[in-house]
Amino acid sequence: MSNPNRDTSAEQLSDYGRDHENNNEKITTSWGAPIPDKDASLTVGHHGPILLQDYNLIDELAHFTRERIPERVVHAKGAGAFGYFEVTHDITKYTAAKVFSDVGKKTPIAVRFSQVAGELGYPDTIRDIRGFAIKFYTEDGIWDLTGNNTPVFFVKDCALFPSFIHTMKRNPKTHMRPDYDMFWDMVTLRPETTHTCLMFFSDRGLPANFRRMHGFGVNTYAFVNSKGEFYYCKFHYRSEQENMDPATARKLAGEDPDYHLRDLYNAIEEGRHPSWRFYVQIMTPKQAEKSPYDPFDDTKVWLHADYPLIPVGRFVLNKNPGNYFAEVEQIGFDPAHLVPGIEPSPDRMLQGRLFAYGDTHRYRLGVNHLQIPVNSPLKAANFARDGRSTLHSQGEAPNYHPNSFNGPGIDKRAKALSPVIPLHGEAARTDNGNDDNFTQARLLYNDVMKSDERARLIDNMLDWLKPTKQEFRNRAIEMFAQVDAELGKKLKLGLNSSRHIDL
Ligand code: HEM
Repeated sequence: MSNPNRDTSAEQLSDYGRDHENNNEKITTSWGAPIPDKDASLTVGHHGPILLQDYNLIDELAHFTRERIPERVVHAKGAGAFGYFEVTHDITKYTAAKVFSDVGKKTPIAVRFSQVAGELGYPDTIRDIRGFAIKFYTEDGIWDLTGNNTPVFFVKDCALFPSFIHTMKRNPKTHMRPDYDMFWDMVTLRPETTHTCLMFFSDRGLPANFRRMHGFGVNTYAFVNSKGEFYYCKFHYRSEQENMDPATARKLAGEDPDYHLRDLYNAIEEGRHPSWRFYVQIMTPKQAEKSPYDPFDDTKVWLHADYPLIPVGRFVLNKNPGNYFAEVEQIGFDPAHLVPGIEPSPDRMLQGRLFAYGDTHRYRLGVNHLQIPVNSPLKAANFARDGRSTLHSQGEAPNYHPNSFNGPGIDKRAKALSPVIPLHGEAARTDNGNDDNFTQARLLYNDVMKSDERARLIDNMLDWLKPTKQEFRNRAIEMFAQVDAELGKKLKLGLNSSRHIDL
């Protein structure tokens, strides 16, 4: 009789047992030698101390004490899965990237979903932005599209990213989170956060699951086609967005902290493979020059009316990781992992990201993180050698360039696709924080959200505003009143009727 308290994920070990009924494998040390005993350490007499020569024990203990690696500084808790990307529409007039070269072409992918602020063991169903990163294993190398479930981000200059993240993390003295004062203080000092705040506190701040969640590249990238023509682009992946009500989310956070991981794992294991439609928005450099909003500002969207979604393909997740640590904890996405035909844009946040991910991977996973199978390109040939945990060091091939011994040479196609970008301007630090922070937020609030969505948004904002200081509440009321006077009034009213005492 089936046990109603168990789901597909609970059967994992039973499935293994069934699949390995005639397993004749013997326990070995990490160097493969069979061991004589696994239930007792080597002692001198029954109560005697353990001998240093119990190297089997030392082998295991020494590995155990090194089991954890640094967790991701952001996006620590997440779920991963594998599948494929398929081209359904021709976009070769915009890009020569091989991943898009033919309709019907399939490319293997890995995807990782995450929440931003919580640590590895944090409950899944808490209000946060969700990460939605895709690794494409293309013929031309790895392309990582490290996106989120919102089209915009809170801040737009990478100089502010670490501070903003700190406000979402634990208070350095109390070690508790969320610290509403840290959050509202910075948010209201930087009104560029307004647009993303409206999304964060909307229904989308609590997705029902990872399977039905939109994704966005967020930052602006660029395409180059085979004629060398250059376009700016944004990436979108769409599903049927499903959200969760805050009461259910709170309950699940206590009862089933891994709710989103379980949901994704079970769906894939049961053959209910989630899929998304993949789109791009395209802006020519001329349009970018004349755009009324900064196309490289990640707190802004490109309006669909001006830059419609162009269908490109679909992707499907049909395989769970064989081992979580090896394939999900050790996966590393990097916005600098681009391929010929796809380029960065001057988006200031993206520019910072181009440095930060490789840097953290060298710290978190080691200098040879690209040799870890889940991160490996189909092929790589360069002059980098050796380093800790080298798995292969390109054998006998020359380790310097140029050389006269037929070492790897330059790919002419990649050279032709490398754009020539005219740059001009004075080196200066220009704060772009007050660059029209309200027009798009107003559009979202008044024209996109329905009245019931607006009511829930206000409730959710009040939940986070009530515990903060009066000074920050006042600043928030003032900031959101610039989106819509009525929104400001409703927040003020809600806060005045608060039962919470001012902290
Ligand atoms: C300058 C700004 C940013 C910096 C310095 C930064 C830095 C980082 C770092 C250090 C990680 C951990 C990576 C790892 O350990 O593997 C990370 C993960 C991530 N970031 Fe950012 N980030 C920035 C902005 C953004 C933005 C704007 C987005 C929105 C698309 C974003 C999306 C993600 C995602 C989805 C992950 C998780 C990747 C995974 O699943 O492994 N980040 N970020």
